Amino acid sequence: MAARSCLTKFSPATKAVIQLFQARCAQTAAAAAPHAAPKMKKIDVYRWDPDQQGDKPRVQTYEIDLNHCGPMVLDALIKIKNEMDPTLTFRRSCREGICGSCSMNIDGTNTLACLYKISGGTKAVKVYPLPHMYVVKDLVPDMSNFYAQYSSIEPYLKKRDEANHAPGSQQYLQTVEDRAKLDGLYECILCACCSTSCPSYWWNSDKYLGPAVLMQAYRWMIDSRDEYTDERLAMMEDGFTVYRCHTIMNCTKTCPKGLNPGQAIGEIKKMLINYNKTAAKQ
Ligand code: SF4
Ligand code: SF4
Ligand code: FES
Repeated sequence: MAARSCLTKFSPATKAVIQLFQARCAQTAAAAAPHAAPKMKKIDVYRWDPDQQGDKPRVQTYEIDLNHCGPMVLDALIKIKNEMDPTLTFRRSCREGICGSCSMNIDGTNTLACLYKISGGTKAVKVYPLPHMYVVKDLVPDMSNFYAQYSSIEPYLKKRDEANHAPGSQQYLQTVEDRAKLDGLYECILCACCSTSCPSYWWNSDKYLGPAVLMQAYRWMIDSRDEYTDERLAMMEDGFTVYRCHTIMNCTKTCPKGLNPGQAIGEIKKMLINYNKTAAKQ
Protein backbone atom coordinates (compact mmCIF):
# COMPACT_ATOMS: atom_id res chain seq x y z
CA MET A 1 0.00 0.00 0.00
CA ALA A 2 2.80 2.38 0.97
CA ALA A 3 4.67 1.54 -2.24
CA ARG A 4 1.53 2.24 -4.27
CA SER A 5 0.90 5.64 -2.68
CA CYS A 6 4.55 6.59 -3.32
CA LEU A 7 3.98 6.00 -7.03
CA THR A 8 1.25 8.65 -7.31
CA LYS A 9 3.82 11.44 -7.65
CA PHE A 10 5.36 9.92 -10.81
CA SER A 11 4.23 10.34 -14.43
CA PRO A 12 2.26 7.39 -15.94
CA ALA A 13 5.31 6.39 -18.04
CA THR A 14 7.66 6.37 -15.01
CA LYS A 15 5.05 4.52 -12.97
CA ALA A 16 4.82 1.82 -15.64
CA VAL A 17 8.62 1.30 -15.50
CA ILE A 18 8.62 1.12 -11.68
CA GLN A 19 5.75 -1.37 -11.71
CA LEU A 20 7.58 -3.45 -14.30
CA PHE A 21 10.66 -3.49 -12.04
CA GLN A 22 8.56 -4.51 -9.02
CA ALA A 23 6.95 -7.27 -11.07
CA ARG A 24 10.37 -8.56 -12.19
CA CYS A 25 11.44 -8.71 -8.52
CA ALA A 26 8.30 -10.74 -7.75
CA GLN A 27 9.20 -13.02 -10.65
CA THR A 28 12.65 -13.65 -9.18
CA ALA A 29 11.09 -14.44 -5.79
CA ALA A 30 8.69 -16.92 -7.44
CA ALA A 31 11.55 -18.63 -9.26
CA ALA A 32 13.30 -19.08 -5.91
CA ALA A 33 10.41 -21.28 -4.67
CA PRO A 34 10.54 -24.26 -7.06
CA HIS A 35 8.39 -26.57 -4.91
CA ALA A 36 5.34 -24.29 -4.63
CA ALA A 37 1.93 -25.82 -5.52
CA PRO A 38 1.16 -25.39 -9.25
CA LYS A 39 -0.70 -22.17 -10.14
CA MET A 40 -2.27 -23.10 -13.45
CA LYS A 41 -3.63 -20.37 -15.72
CA LYS A 42 -5.37 -20.65 -19.08
CA ILE A 43 -4.28 -18.34 -21.91
CA ASP A 44 -6.70 -18.16 -24.87
CA VAL A 45 -4.82 -17.05 -27.97
CA TYR A 46 -6.12 -16.08 -31.43
CA ARG A 47 -4.57 -18.27 -34.10
CA TRP A 48 -4.75 -17.93 -37.87
CA ASP A 49 -2.31 -18.45 -40.68
CA PRO A 50 -3.82 -16.90 -43.83
CA ASP A 51 -1.03 -18.48 -45.91
CA GLN A 52 -2.19 -21.99 -44.99
CA GLN A 53 -4.94 -23.00 -47.37
CA GLY A 54 -8.13 -23.83 -45.51
CA ASP A 55 -6.91 -22.50 -42.15
CA LYS A 56 -9.63 -20.59 -40.28
CA PRO A 57 -9.33 -18.14 -37.38
CA ARG A 58 -9.74 -19.91 -34.05
CA VAL A 59 -8.86 -19.59 -30.37
CA GLN A 60 -6.30 -21.98 -28.94
CA THR A 61 -6.06 -22.49 -25.19
CA TYR A 62 -2.73 -23.06 -23.47
CA GLU A 63 -2.30 -23.80 -19.78
CA ILE A 64 0.79 -22.60 -17.97
CA ASP A 65 2.07 -22.81 -14.40
CA LEU A 66 2.50 -19.24 -13.16
CA ASN A 67 5.14 -20.43 -10.68
CA HIS A 68 7.43 -20.89 -13.65
CA CYS A 69 6.53 -17.86 -15.70
CA GLY A 70 7.23 -14.13 -15.53
CA PRO A 71 4.36 -11.86 -14.51
CA MET A 72 3.50 -10.27 -17.85
CA VAL A 73 1.40 -11.58 -20.73
CA LEU A 74 4.48 -11.37 -22.97
CA ASP A 75 6.30 -13.70 -20.54
CA ALA A 76 3.45 -16.20 -20.96
CA LEU A 77 3.56 -15.95 -24.76
CA ILE A 78 7.34 -16.43 -24.79
CA LYS A 79 6.98 -19.45 -22.48
CA ILE A 80 4.31 -20.97 -24.73
CA LYS A 81 6.44 -20.43 -27.83
CA ASN A 82 9.63 -21.76 -26.20
CA GLU A 83 8.19 -24.74 -24.36
CA MET A 84 4.83 -25.71 -25.86
CA ASP A 85 4.17 -24.46 -29.38
CA PRO A 86 6.91 -22.91 -31.56
CA THR A 87 4.36 -22.13 -34.29
CA LEU A 88 2.75 -19.36 -32.21
CA THR A 89 3.66 -16.04 -33.84
CA PHE A 90 3.87 -12.58 -32.26
CA ARG A 91 6.14 -9.53 -32.36
CA ARG A 92 8.32 -8.39 -29.48
CA SER A 93 11.72 -6.86 -28.96
CA CYS A 94 12.57 -4.70 -25.94
CA ARG A 95 10.36 -6.39 -23.30
CA GLU A 96 10.04 -3.09 -21.42
CA GLY A 97 7.53 -0.83 -23.19
CA ILE A 98 10.01 0.97 -25.43
CA CYS A 99 9.85 -0.56 -28.91
CA GLY A 100 6.07 -0.76 -29.37
CA SER A 101 6.20 -4.07 -31.21
CA CYS A 102 4.22 -6.26 -28.76
CA SER A 103 0.97 -4.27 -29.03
CA MET A 104 -2.09 -6.52 -29.05
CA ASN A 105 -5.58 -6.77 -27.58
CA ILE A 106 -5.52 -8.39 -24.13
CA ASP A 107 -8.67 -8.97 -22.10
CA GLY A 108 -10.45 -6.49 -24.37
CA THR A 109 -7.89 -3.67 -24.17
CA ASN A 110 -5.30 -2.60 -26.72
CA THR A 111 -2.03 -2.59 -24.82
CA LEU A 112 1.59 -3.76 -24.72
CA ALA A 113 1.94 -7.43 -23.76
CA CYS A 114 5.23 -6.69 -21.98
CA LEU A 115 3.59 -4.14 -19.65
CA TYR A 116 0.30 -5.97 -19.07
CA LYS A 117 0.20 -8.29 -16.06
CA ILE A 118 -1.35 -11.76 -16.28
CA SER A 119 -4.64 -11.31 -14.43
CA GLY A 120 -5.31 -13.21 -11.20
CA GLY A 121 -8.36 -15.43 -10.66
CA THR A 122 -9.62 -18.35 -12.68
CA LYS A 123 -10.69 -16.55 -15.85
CA ALA A 124 -8.57 -17.25 -18.92
CA VAL A 125 -6.48 -14.38 -20.30
CA LYS A 126 -7.75 -13.54 -23.79
CA VAL A 127 -5.17 -12.48 -26.35
CA TYR A 128 -6.07 -11.18 -29.82
CA PRO A 129 -4.26 -9.13 -32.46
CA LEU A 130 -4.94 -5.36 -32.64
CA PRO A 131 -8.54 -4.98 -33.83
CA HIS A 132 -9.64 -4.09 -37.36
CA MET A 133 -6.22 -4.75 -38.87
CA TYR A 134 -5.35 -7.33 -41.52
CA VAL A 135 -3.64 -10.30 -39.91
CA VAL A 136 -0.25 -11.48 -41.16
CA LYS A 137 -0.27 -14.47 -38.77
CA ASP A 138 -1.70 -15.11 -35.29
CA LEU A 139 -1.00 -11.97 -33.22
CA VAL A 140 0.91 -10.11 -35.93
CA PRO A 141 -1.11 -7.36 -37.65
CA ASP A 142 -0.20 -5.84 -40.99
CA MET A 143 1.15 -2.36 -40.12
CA SER A 144 1.85 -1.29 -43.74
CA ASN A 145 -0.99 1.26 -43.94
CA PHE A 146 -0.14 2.66 -40.50
CA TYR A 147 3.52 3.19 -41.43
CA ALA A 148 2.61 4.65 -44.84
CA GLN A 149 0.35 7.15 -43.07
CA TYR A 150 3.17 8.01 -40.66
CA SER A 151 5.51 8.57 -43.59
CA SER A 152 2.89 10.81 -45.29
CA ILE A 153 3.12 13.47 -42.56
CA GLU A 154 6.87 13.86 -43.17
CA PRO A 155 7.90 13.24 -39.55
CA TYR A 156 11.19 15.13 -39.65
CA LEU A 157 12.50 18.67 -39.40
CA LYS A 158 11.91 20.73 -42.57
CA LYS A 159 13.69 23.99 -43.40
CA ARG A 160 12.87 26.43 -46.23
CA ASP A 161 16.43 27.08 -47.36
CA GLU A 162 17.58 23.51 -47.91
CA ALA A 163 20.89 24.52 -49.47
CA ASN A 164 21.98 26.11 -46.19
CA HIS A 165 20.55 23.36 -44.03
CA ALA A 166 22.21 20.18 -45.23
CA PRO A 167 21.42 17.31 -42.84
CA GLY A 168 23.96 17.19 -40.00
CA SER A 169 25.55 20.53 -40.95
CA GLN A 170 24.48 22.48 -37.85
CA GLN A 171 22.59 22.42 -34.57
CA TYR A 172 19.15 24.01 -34.26
CA LEU A 173 18.70 25.31 -30.75
CA GLN A 174 15.41 25.67 -28.89
CA THR A 175 14.46 27.58 -25.78
CA VAL A 176 13.71 25.47 -22.73
CA GLU A 177 10.05 26.55 -23.07
CA ASP A 178 9.81 25.50 -26.73
CA ARG A 179 11.44 22.18 -25.96
CA ALA A 180 8.92 21.59 -23.14
CA LYS A 181 6.05 21.91 -25.64
CA LEU A 182 7.12 18.56 -27.13
CA ASP A 183 6.72 16.71 -23.82
CA GLY A 184 3.86 14.23 -23.94
CA LEU A 185 4.27 13.97 -27.74
CA TYR A 186 7.79 12.76 -28.48
CA GLU A 187 7.43 9.78 -26.13
CA CYS A 188 5.04 8.01 -28.52
CA ILE A 189 6.41 4.59 -29.49
CA LEU A 190 4.08 4.15 -32.49
CA CYS A 191 2.54 1.00 -31.09
CA ALA A 192 -0.82 1.83 -32.78
CA CYS A 193 -2.84 0.82 -29.69
CA CYS A 194 -4.67 4.16 -29.92
CA SER A 195 -5.39 4.16 -33.66
CA THR A 196 -6.74 0.61 -33.57
CA SER A 197 -9.05 1.47 -30.66
CA CYS A 198 -10.61 4.36 -32.59
CA PRO A 199 -13.98 3.60 -34.26
CA SER A 200 -13.37 6.34 -36.85
CA TYR A 201 -10.08 4.70 -37.79
CA TRP A 202 -11.72 1.27 -38.01
CA TRP A 203 -14.12 2.47 -40.69
CA ASN A 204 -11.96 5.02 -42.55
CA SER A 205 -8.34 3.98 -42.13
CA ASP A 206 -7.77 4.55 -45.85
CA LYS A 207 -8.44 8.31 -45.48
CA TYR A 208 -8.39 9.20 -41.79
CA LEU A 209 -4.88 9.35 -40.33
CA GLY A 210 -5.86 8.17 -36.85
CA PRO A 211 -4.69 9.43 -33.44
CA ALA A 212 -1.11 8.12 -33.40
CA VAL A 213 -0.13 9.68 -36.72
CA LEU A 214 -2.07 12.89 -36.03
CA MET A 215 -0.29 13.32 -32.71
CA GLN A 216 3.04 13.06 -34.52
CA ALA A 217 1.83 15.52 -37.17
CA TYR A 218 1.05 17.94 -34.32
CA ARG A 219 4.45 17.28 -32.74
CA TRP A 220 6.12 18.63 -35.91
CA MET A 221 3.63 21.49 -36.36
CA ILE A 222 4.57 22.97 -33.00
CA ASP A 223 8.31 22.32 -33.16
CA SER A 224 9.86 25.82 -33.05
CA ARG A 225 12.67 24.67 -35.37
CA ASP A 226 10.38 23.50 -38.19
CA GLU A 227 9.43 25.96 -40.95
CA TYR A 228 6.56 24.11 -42.64
CA THR A 229 3.74 24.48 -40.11
CA ASP A 230 1.30 26.02 -42.63
CA GLU A 231 1.92 23.30 -45.21
CA ARG A 232 1.54 20.62 -42.55
CA LEU A 233 -1.82 22.14 -41.60
CA ALA A 234 -2.92 22.47 -45.23
CA MET A 235 -2.55 18.68 -45.55
CA MET A 236 -5.29 18.29 -42.92
CA GLU A 237 -7.92 20.45 -44.63
CA ASP A 238 -10.04 17.77 -46.33
CA GLY A 239 -12.98 16.28 -44.45
CA PHE A 240 -11.25 13.02 -43.54
CA THR A 241 -7.57 13.40 -42.61
CA VAL A 242 -8.30 14.97 -39.22
CA TYR A 243 -12.02 15.81 -39.10
CA ARG A 244 -13.08 12.16 -38.84
CA CYS A 245 -12.09 12.41 -35.18
CA HIS A 246 -15.30 12.76 -33.16
CA THR A 247 -13.57 13.18 -29.79
CA ILE A 248 -14.68 9.78 -28.49
CA MET A 249 -11.30 9.59 -26.66
CA ASN A 250 -10.84 5.79 -26.82
CA CYS A 251 -7.33 6.63 -28.02
CA THR A 252 -6.29 8.50 -24.89
CA LYS A 253 -7.93 5.92 -22.61
CA THR A 254 -5.96 3.04 -24.10
CA CYS A 255 -2.48 4.55 -24.63
CA PRO A 256 -0.08 2.33 -22.63
CA LYS A 257 2.40 5.22 -22.36
CA GLY A 258 -0.15 7.55 -20.73
CA LEU A 259 -0.16 10.01 -23.66
CA ASN A 260 -3.10 12.07 -24.89
CA PRO A 261 -3.52 11.85 -28.68
CA GLY A 262 -7.15 13.01 -28.43
CA GLN A 263 -5.99 16.34 -27.02
CA ALA A 264 -3.34 16.73 -29.74
CA ILE A 265 -6.04 16.27 -32.40
CA GLY A 266 -8.12 18.97 -30.68
CA GLU A 267 -5.12 21.32 -30.87
CA ILE A 268 -4.72 20.64 -34.61
CA LYS A 269 -8.40 21.50 -35.14
CA LYS A 270 -7.86 24.80 -33.29
CA MET A 271 -4.77 25.60 -35.40
CA LEU A 272 -6.73 24.89 -38.59
CA ILE A 273 -9.06 27.81 -37.84
CA ASN A 274 -6.39 30.48 -38.12
CA TYR A 275 -3.41 29.25 -40.08
CA ASN A 276 -2.00 31.12 -43.07
CA LYS A 277 -3.57 29.37 -46.08
CA THR A 278 -1.92 31.71 -48.56
CA ALA A 279 1.55 30.96 -47.22
CA ALA A 280 0.85 27.24 -47.38
CA LYS A 281 0.16 27.48 -51.14
CA GLN A 282 3.45 29.24 -51.97
S1 SF4 B 1 -10.70 11.09 -29.90
FE1 SF4 B 1 -10.69 10.98 -32.12
S2 SF4 B 1 -8.89 9.76 -32.55
FE2 SF4 B 1 -9.35 9.41 -30.40
S3 SF4 B 1 -10.65 7.58 -30.43
FE3 SF4 B 1 -11.95 9.34 -30.54
S4 SF4 B 1 -12.38 9.65 -32.70
FE4 SF4 B 1 -10.59 8.34 -32.52
S1 SF4 C 1 -0.02 7.64 -28.66
FE1 SF4 C 1 0.25 5.96 -27.20
S2 SF4 C 1 -1.06 4.32 -27.99
FE2 SF4 C 1 -0.79 5.78 -29.63
S3 SF4 C 1 0.92 4.97 -30.81
FE3 SF4 C 1 1.75 6.46 -29.35
S4 SF4 C 1 2.33 5.25 -27.57
FE4 SF4 C 1 1.00 3.96 -28.80
S1 FES D 1 8.41 -5.76 -26.39
FE1 FES D 1 8.89 -3.67 -26.79
S2 FES D 1 7.13 -2.61 -26.16
FE2 FES D 1 6.70 -4.67 -25.60
